[in-house]
Amino acid sequence: MPGIKVWLVTRYSDVTHALTSPYVAVRVPEAVADLIDAGRLPAAYREAFTEDRKNLLNTDPPEHTALRSEITKQLTAQRMTALHERIVSGALRLVRGVSDSPGPSVDIMQELAYPLSIMAICDLLGVPEADRGTFLGWAHAISVGGGGPEGYQAVFAAMAEMDTYFGRLLEDKKFTDGDTLAAGIIRSNAESSSMTVPQLKTMLAMLVMSGLETAASLTGTAVAVILRDPRLRDLLLSDLSLADAFIEETIRFAGPVTFTPPRFTRSDIELGSVVIPAGEPVSMSLWSANRDPSQFHESASFNPMRSERSQLGFGRGAHYCLGAAIARSEAKAALTHLFGLHPAMELEQVVWRDSNLRGPVSLSVAVR
Ligand code: HEM
Repeated sequence: MPGIKVWLVTRYSDVTHALTSPYVAVRVPEAVADLIDAGRLPAAYREAFTEDRKNLLNTDPPEHTALRSEITKQLTAQRMTALHERIVSGALRLVRGVSDSPGPSVDIMQELAYPLSIMAICDLLGVPEADRGTFLGWAHAISVGGGGPEGYQAVFAAMAEMDTYFGRLLEDKKFTDGDTLAAGIIRSNAESSSMTVPQLKTMLAMLVMSGLETAASLTGTAVAVILRDPRLRDLLLSDLSLADAFIEETIRFAGPVTFTPPRFTRSDIELGSVVIPAGEPVSMSLWSANRDPSQFHESASFNPMRSERSQLGFGRGAHYCLGAAIARSEAKAALTHLFGLHPAMELEQVVWRDSNLRGPVSLSVAVR
């Protein structure tokens, strides 16, 4: 949250404690109201906590538990297997496209990471092919924006456009009757009425926004880290089945989400040796926790062969990432096909995004 003072929790043990504590919550309306009144949160923040904007990320158990189960029960093994197969074949098609590109240089973000991520999330939800181009612009505005009044304006404009878009889709029989995650959620919600129509639209938009930029960033970061170090590239090329281990280590070493969205303390809480008073905004630094030397041996080194596998890049506790398996599947398919087909590619230039959501803006490689 640029320009806003929050308590930043940095040690591995304190981050896990805070993420699993009932005294650190995402929805504490009275704390938010007080902080806005005191000028410590922008007034625009109220908008994020309206009833219509309720979603997984801004509710706490037990309300959150009910909403989350609406989604998880639709993430069936059958749907996940079908999606995984689409991801593997989609990645192969995109990597072949990289081989066919006319010039010697290719931007891996534009040619592989983003299209794969858009395909995965839009397939899962059943978004028509023709509409998918717009999603990237919305994802950029929402996941990367938010800093200062202009950033907030861009975020709310994108949210309003998505709202209109999903409103239209909800009226479209082809969308609501399909065999997709979204159609399943819509049908189940028609019976349970857990969500109002505005909340349903918010939920669909949240799924897109949580899964698009993040997963693309993971793929891009993994490729960049490996191409920067010939020993890492040689290790992966010696056995492509190590891709899983490389991805796990990428999430620990430089995962896309650097710190969690803010929580608010419900009562005084001691973290480490510090007492944070009630009503304060708190954010957990996943990056710092994932580099905590008391948890990870030689924590500043990228070591895919490390034995500790307890990284916090997908969060922890009630809000643990729902799309972790999808993100891993995308990154694995991308790495395996890319390094399988282009073992000799060279890194030309990587431009990193300066934001809470970390990853390459562009990743230029020479493929021949
Ligand atoms: C590498 C890629 C990804 C990373 C690093 C990531 C990271 C995270 C993190 C840290 C959280 C917890 C936030 C918190 O505690 O406040 C989270 C939650 C979530 N993620 Fe992901 N995510 C990724 C990909 C995805 C994908 C592909 C999807 C969907 C297809 C997704 C859907 C969600 C959802 C729905 C939540 C909210 C869960 C809840 O609040 O119950 N994520 N993610």
